[in-house]
This record gives sequence, structure tokens and C-alpha cells, in this order.
Amino acid sequence: MSILPPTEENIHLAGDAIRAGKLVVIPTETVYGLAADATNRRAVESIFRAKGRPQDNPLIVHIGESKWLEDLAVDVPEYAQRLAGEFWPGPLTLVLTKLPHVLDEVTAGLDSVAVRMPSHEIALRVIREANVPIAAPSANKFMAVSPTRIEHIDPEIELGAEMILDGGPCGYGVESTVIECLGDHPRLLRPGGLSRAKIEEFLSAPLVAADHSERRSPGRYPKHYAPRTPVRLVSRLGERDAGITFQVPQHRNQLQLSGSNPDEFAANLYHALHVLDERSVSEILIETPPETPEWEVIWDRLRKASSS
Ligand code: TXA
Ligand code: MG
Repeated sequence: MSILPPTEENIHLAGDAIRAGKLVVIPTETVYGLAADATNRRAVESIFRAKGRPQDNPLIVHIGESKWLEDLAVDVPEYAQRLAGEFWPGPLTLVLTKLPHVLDEVTAGLDSVAVRMPSHEIALRVIREANVPIAAPSANKFMAVSPTRIEHIDPEIELGAEMILDGGPCGYGVESTVIECLGDHPRLLRPGGLSRAKIEEFLSAPLVAADHSERRSPGRYPKHYAPRTPVRLVSRLGERDAGITFQVPQHRNQLQLSGSNPDEFAANLYHALHVLDERSVSEILIETPPETPEWEVIWDRLRKASSS
């Protein structure tokens, strides 16, 4: 395994490695992904092994051009085509009816496949160089916090990968928004980098939330995106507490991510959790943000990180 700068040559090597069935860690605009050829059963299986991820949790397939969708999905609803047209490339994943040849290992045996076209230039170039659709979960061990910088990548993930392309910090810092596009209306399965407000404004309609009691809808694992250190949500940090605050920090284990800008907060949240997790603090306390729609994705990740 080697950590490499994203030069022309290394992007070329990354494409070759993926085509040869190896795993490559790539930057995306949301979080780093552990990428493999989505058409290669053994390569996809090695993603699950490297992450320690249960087989029943399906993967997102990343494409290099919108038209690659034709080889993955059928019966794409009109609203899904419009969403893809508007927000791809970008942090939006669409769950669509899959074509029969899409591997069960990718979809966990479901009849649907999750697809997105990332906007990160390095990710796009690697996918186009590989010239195959790429299955890529976040490049963390199962249930752990997703990496938004290469120094967050777990040594076990590093060991499983042929190479890691260093793209610097990820811009959004939280995973893509996942929308199910199987029925008459789109349904929100996971809030993410693309805000509900932007999607609703574009659709001129409210987004229905998914029914989480249904089998295999994502977010079924209430504890997720969690550091090793216990996390607790509080209204205000005490002077000596370690954690994340909206106030002026009182010491080095108090981190202030942003005043009132949710995008800036999201971009720095996982980094802060990784940093605090590396320090020997007994508990990470996080001051809760306002309960307004702009903070939806942050609330989602804070609830999951603090769920026991
Ligand atoms: O931003 C992202 O989406 C990142 C980067 C690397 O692209 N990837 C990512 O993948 O977050 P992962 O595997 O950590 O999360 C994929 C989510 C899971 O919640 C999974 O349950 C859901 O997508 N998913 C995948 N296929 C699905 C399907 N067919 N139906 C419903 N949910 C699906
Ligand atoms: Mg993940």
C-alpha cells in the first residue's frame, strides 16, 4: 500500500489497479471512498472484508458519465432523471430498479441499486480511467467515522488497499444524500451533502421521509459514524469538558467548528471527531445546533454518533 499524490500517472495506475480487481482509496467531494470494480464479484467481496461490513448493507455504485446509468438501472422515473440532470455530478445518490446483471454482492440481494456520479475531479478521473462502474463505501471500518482526510484512514483499511490517492480534505465532509426513486415520489433515505431544501426547491414538492421500519433501509444501524470514545450531546460544554462547542474554546480539547454556518460545521465535524478520538479524553461532548432544517444532516450524524 502506498499513499500517492493524484498525479496523471498515479490516476492512471489507480484505474489499472481497479480494473485488476484491487481496492483503491479515492477522495470524493463527500468523504474518502474504498473503491473497487463494481462488476468484479471478488473485488466487491474484498470491500466487505476490508471494512468488516455486514453483507446485507448494499454499496453505492459510482459512475463516470450519466449515460453509464443505462447499464445499471431500468424504469428510471422521470423525477429521478430530472434530479440526476440537475445535481450530478455531486453528492446525491439515487436508489433505482437494478438491471439483472448488477451483482447481488453490490446490492445485498436487493432489486435496487444505489448510483451516484461524484463531482470530485480526482474521483471522476479515476472512474473514467478505470472505465468501469465503481462500488465505493466510505473508507472506514464498519460503524466508524468516515475519513475526510487521509490521516483519518484506519491502518486496517490501508492494509487492504493497493493505493491511497491523497486529495486533501473533502469539501462537504458528510456522505451523499440518498434518495429512493422506486415509487411515484422520491423518498429521503439518508440526509447528506445535498440539502433537503435544494432538492425540495428543485422538485417544488416536499421530500417524503423513508419508513425506517422497512427491511434494509439505510440508517438501520442506529449507531454509526461513531468514534471509539463515547459521544454525548449537551446544550453547553462545561469549562473542563472535551468536545465540540459553539462558544470560544476554553482549552485545546474544545474545538469550535463554526459559528452558525451548517456547511462549514459539516465540513469539519468528522475531522473534529477523529482528532478528539485520538486524544485520551474519556468522553466527547457536543453542543447541539439549532433544531432548524439547515442542520438536518448534522443532527442525523450527531444522533448516530451518540447512540449507544
Ligand atoms: O458520499 C457517499 O455516499 C460516500 C462516498 C464514498 O461516495 N459513500 C458512502 O457509502 O457513504 P456507504 O457504503 O458508507 O453508504 C451507502 C449507503 C448506505 O446507507 C446503504 O444502506 C445505502 O447507501 N444503500 C446502498 N444501496 C442501497 C439500496 N439499493 N437501497 C437502499 N439503500 C442503499
Ligand atoms: Mg459509510
